Amino acid sequence: MLVTGAAGGVGSVAVSLLSGLGYEVTASTGRRSEDGYLRDLGASEVIDRVELSEPGRPFGEERWAGAVDAVGSHTLANVIATTRYGGTVAACGLAQGPDLPATVLPFILRGVTLAGVDSVHCPLPRRVAAWDRLASDLDLDALDSMTTRADLGDVLDLAPRQLAGEVRGRTVIGI
Ligand SMILES: NC(=O)c1ccc[n+]([C@@H]2O[C@H](COP(=O)([O-])OP(=O)(O)OC[C@H]3O[C@@H](n4cnc5c(N)ncnc54)[C@H](OP(=O)(O)O)[C@@H]3O)[C@@H](O)[C@H]2O)c1
Repeated sequence: MLVTGAAGGVGSVAVSLLSGLGYEVTASTGRRSEDGYLRDLGASEVIDRVELSEPGRPFGEERWAGAVDAVGSHTLANVIATTRYGGTVAACGLAQGPDLPATVLPFILRGVTLAGVDSVHCPLPRRVAAWDRLASDLDLDALDSMTTRADLGDVLDLAPRQLAGEVRGRTVIGI
């Protein structure tokens, strides 16, 4: 399974959950300094995000059984193009951009599924099911290791760093 934007909040949780469920996880990151962090969360391989972020071929060698993508744009297009027959890619974010410069080839020739993820309007029963899975599947030590706590007064300093992709994992703001 591939996770993009792996050192971010969504990516860190995805790496931990998937590895805990027994999947072999490849983490894609622009921060090779976080190799150790991502391996501690359960990644068995860490790749540089430049492998995926440039315009690529519409259809490539099959590499992933599935993926969680927090990045969008060319990265998501390349992930879809290199997902194995019958695989599913979850589109969660747009850290690289909201565009999707892809073709339909992986969908109609490999039966790849692109699954949308929305946490804002998600209906309550589905949230409860997701929370139940987090309660049973998310390792609390891993959650601690990916979580930084900060105060409301730190937000003005944190926000530009978050947008620049410099904040690791998740940040909990105490209010
Ligand atoms: N669909 C939903 O319901 C939902 C819910 C939550 C968040 N989101 C979206 O999901 C995305 C990730 O959220 P997050 O909370 O994990 O944010 P985050 O902590 O800022 O993580 C985003 C990660 O994306 C990577 N990244 C940043 N800029 C990039 C670029 N130009 N090209 C390629 N990769 C880049 C970085 O990871 P590396 O340093 O590892 O490369 C960064 O840590 C955001 O776009 C957010 O809006 C969606």
